[in-house]
Amino acid sequence: MAVKKLLLLPGDGIGPEAMAEVKKLIAVMNTQGAGFETEEGLVGGCAYDAHGQAISEADMEKALAADAVLFGAVGGPKWDPVPYEVRPEAGLLRLRKDLELFANLRPAICYPALASSSSLRQEVVEGLDILIVRELTGGVYFGEPKQIIDLGNGQKRGIDTQVYDTFEIERISGVAFELARTRNNHVTSMEKRNVMKSGVLWHEVVSATHKAKYSDVKLDHMLADAGGMQLVRWPKQFDVIVTDNLFGDMLSDVAAMLTGSLGMLPSASLGAPDPKTGKRRALYEPVHGSAPDIAGKGIANPLAMIASFAMCLRYSFNMIEEADRLEKAISAVLDEGYRTSDIMSEGMKQASTSEMGDAIVAKYRG
Ligand code: NAD
Ligand code: IPM
Ligand code: MN
Repeated sequence: MAVKKLLLLPGDGIGPEAMAEVKKLIAVMNTQGAGFETEEGLVGGCAYDAHGQAISEADMEKALAADAVLFGAVGGPKWDPVPYEVRPEAGLLRLRKDLELFANLRPAICYPALASSSSLRQEVVEGLDILIVRELTGGVYFGEPKQIIDLGNGQKRGIDTQVYDTFEIERISGVAFELARTRNNHVTSMEKRNVMKSGVLWHEVVSATHKAKYSDVKLDHMLADAGGMQLVRWPKQFDVIVTDNLFGDMLSDVAAMLTGSLGMLPSASLGAPDPKTGKRRALYEPVHGSAPDIAGKGIANPLAMIASFAMCLRYSFNMIEEADRLEKAISAVLDEGYRTSDIMSEGMKQASTSEMGDAIVAKYRG
């Protein structure tokens, strides 16, 4: 079997703690002939400490050469004083931009065992299975100018620029429509065309893409603020949500809480398929951050990282059986009552990060 090159970038805070549990799974899969070859690199604050950059050129080269990248989390108060250009988060943004990972898939699934862990009523979240498709390489994250200017009168001006071109909206909505066809055939596009020109264009291009190629899929449009409200009011009305970089960031944290914890939400950041080989660049990252408040305590929930690895098996290596098995292992371990602190409730089995990982590995092995 061909070697599968994985670059692991554990990062800061709870990133390495969660990644340690994925390493256990990789080791088991390799004993079963999966053929993963792993390399490790530094990203975020730890890379800044080592090289003065949020990711080194050598690690960027490794990321470009890998079949897939597994990313933990970056950031933390230790690096608050660091210059903006080299802050930990810049490493993640560079990876997304240079690898052209424009499509970020953030599924929010409420596992049956956690239906009572959400801050919302059980009937609102039970059986929830939605997918947020977030545009990841454009919008206000990358638009120019992006600067603080001194106005010379004791005032400064902070500027960020929201920019979207037609092709960016076309390709992200194409991803959303294609995925909807494999699910419940329904896309909701969210923007703010009532105040933003980029929102007007977003609405126009999504509608045109729908009409030209995907008219079999049901399409709705919603203003993004109302979309946030609807997500907590009745999230099961959605199937696939497609939205821009900033709205997608915010709405996916909201969606995370529907599932019980930010520690449950995985994601896949994908590039366009190569026209010759069909292979696409990909990075898999939990939606949560480095969680400085719990880092180093061994209590972080590793399930978002583990479920991100399941997405890697599915999207980068077409290991559908293994991905299904891993996702079923997560569900089964939750059914058995294992809980990290963030999802703990009365009568359940309190598990540390590594105990949760071990339970998943044991269930995966069968
Ligand atoms: P955060 O996601 O790190 O934490 C928010 C809250 O959720 C905290 O209370 C934390 O303890 C909890 N939490 C998050 N993940 C958890 C897990 N796996 N298990 C249990 N509890 C979990 O967000 P924040 O506190 O706003 O940001 C902290 C740092 O992380 C910042 O520097 C931010 O820029 C960075 N960040 C990085 C990423 C990333 O690397 N992909 C994503 C988001 C935030
Ligand atoms: C996320 C994070 C990142 C983002 C940060 C860390 C750059 O919040 O992946 O959700 O804003 O995209
Ligand atoms: Mn975020």
